[in-house]
Formats: sequence, structure tokens, C-alpha cells
Amino acid sequence: MVAGMTPLLLLALACTASDTPVDTAPSADADTDTDTDSDTDADTDADTDADTDADTDADTDADTDADSVFERDVFPVYEAYCNDCHHQWGPGDPDRLYDTLVTNPPEPDMVVPGDREASYFYDKIAHDRPTDGKSRMPPELFPLNDDELAAVAGWIDNGAAKDSEFDRFFSDIWMRRDCKNCHEDWGGVEKTAVHTFLTTQDGVGGRIVVAGDSEGSLLFAKLKGVSALGVQMPIVYEYLDAATIEAVGAWIDSGAPR
Ligand code: HEC
Ligand code: HEC
Repeated sequence: MVAGMTPLLLLALACTASDTPVDTAPSADADTDTDTDSDTDADTDADTDADTDADTDADTDADTDADSVFERDVFPVYEAYCNDCHHQWGPGDPDRLYDTLVTNPPEPDMVVPGDREASYFYDKIAHDRPTDGKSRMPPELFPLNDDELAAVAGWIDNGAAKDSEFDRFFSDIWMRRDCKNCHEDWGGVEKTAVHTFLTTQDGVGGRIVVAGDSEGSLLFAKLKGVSALGVQMPIVYEYLDAATIEAVGAWIDSGAPR
């Protein structure tokens, strides 16, 4: 078993280390004390937006990361800790993993949207004794850390949705390309506030997002660098590639849904 564990452990560490949004997980202290009743310090989480469900967590084994989304937060957990053994679930392909977990699961209760405790997938990773009486996952390794559990919990509690186009815009562009810093007053790091701002407010150069009309939207023009006023966005950081900009355009043309 030791021989089999080593590459997986290295993989898990490598993925954790290179995965930008998930904390700089100190794996040294990933002790086995995350069991059902370890709510000694419910205040140690850095998550400002934790706890959407103060009522449902009879056994508070993890907080909820309310902003968690599938591709950015849940898929990498699977890639780092699970695909070695559960490779038939869809490594390298978030759509396939989503299908396995939600649309076409091998067990009916794999993921129960809105209810992590009823979700077998969460039960297996969060509890020392899952309800099936078998092993906690991943077996024979450290359990997931609190941030990773909170990410999975948050995704399930929020309805276990597939990422929307706006989720992708928000996590891959808004957060990663630092639009959030220079345009802090457009909603900052609050996803819904940013969506509301972009789709309802005018910039100096016109309406930022005109739902259904990418060509008429300042956002699209600024990302392409064709706006009559000012310069291409983002300033300082690398411009987005053409395919990414077209995806933003397609999102706008489809009505810019949240
Ligand atoms: C070292 C191999 C290994 C790793 C890594 C692993 N599993 Fe498992 N998993 C198993 C085995 C073996 C079983 C069957 C025995 C059991 O249920 O405990 C299983 C069963 C399961 C089941 C029950 C349903 C089913 O399909 O059998 C779930 C859910 C599950 N694992 C989730 C996960 C998740 C999530 C991860 C990553 C966080 C993970 N596993 C990592 C080996 C692994
Ligand atoms: C380093 C700071 C900086 C970054 C990063 C940045 N912007 Fe800007 N942005 C500005 C400034 C300054 C202006 C006003 C000057 C201009 O339009 O050229 C502006 C203007 C805009 C406008 C037009 C607003 C108006 O009132 O006309 C849009 C839309 C925009 N930015 C979107 C973005 C997006 C989307 C990103 C991320 C991909 C981004 N910006 C990243 C500084 C920044």
C-alpha cells in the first residue's frame, strides 16, 4: 500500500500547490482530527462569507464557501485526490465529472443539490465513518483540508449547479485578471453585485453590458480594445485571448444571465 500511496500523495500535494485559488494549504497540519465532533474552533476559517446555513449543520464539520463553483473549486479537488482510483468519473473533463456526480450518478444520492449531508459524495469525504460503514475518502491519506471541504459543501449547498457563463467570467476573468482591483466599486469580489452593476450601470463610454447585444456593450469593446474612449482592458495585465473575449460576447448575446 505504501508503494501505491506515494505517487498519489505527490500528485495531491502538487495539485494543491499549483492550484491558485485554494489556499496555500499547509499540509503539515492536515491531521486526522476533522471528525464529526471537532468543532473546537469554529472560528478559524478565513472565509468571510461562510455559513449560509446556520441551521442545517447539526455536525459542523465544515463551513460553507458561499462563492464556490464547480469548475474552479470542486473539479480540482477530484483531480488532486480522487481520479487515481475513480478515473472512470472523468479526469481532465469537468463536464464528464459533473455528469457522473449530478446528471447521471452511479448512486441516486451521490449529490443532493442543496443538502450536503444527504449527499453520498460529501458524506464519504467529510466523515470518518461514512453512512455506508466503509472508508472515508481518500482512503489511507489525509482527509481534505477545511477549505476544500468548505468548497465542496458550498457548491452542494448552493444547488450543485454547473458553472454558468457568468460564473466563468467572474472566476476566470474578473477575479484572476484583476478587474476586481481597479474596478472595486463595481461590486468588488461580490459576484451578484458585479453582475448587477455590469448589467444595469453606465460607464463613461455607455452601458457596460447591454443584454443581448455584445457589439453595443462597453465591456466587449474594452476587452477587444476597440472602444472609442480610453484603452484596452485589462490595463497592466495581459489582454485576454480572442476565444475568451468571444465567450464573453456570446454570454452577452445570450442575454447576459447570472
Ligand atoms: C486509493 C484509492 C481511492 C482514492 C484515492 C479515492 N477512492 Fe473513493 N473509493 C475507493 C474504493 C476502493 C471504494 C469502495 C469502498 C468504499 O466505498 O469505501 C471507493 C468508494 C467511493 C465512493 C462510494 C461510491 C462508489 O462509487 O463506490 C465514493 C462516493 C467515493 N469513493 C468518493 C471518493 C472521493 C470523492 C475521492 C477523492 C476525495 C475518493 N473517493 C478517492 C478508492 C479510492
Ligand atoms: C490597472 C487597473 C485596471 C485594470 C486591471 C482593469 N481596468 Fe478597466 N479601467 C481602468 C481605468 C483607469 C479605466 C478608465 C480609463 C479607460 O477607459 O481607459 C477603465 C475602464 C474600463 C471600462 C470602461 C468604463 C467606462 O466608464 O467607460 C470597462 C468596461 C473596463 N474598464 C473593464 C475592465 C475589465 C473587464 C477588466 C478586467 C479584465 C479591467 N477593466 C481591468 C483600470 C483598470
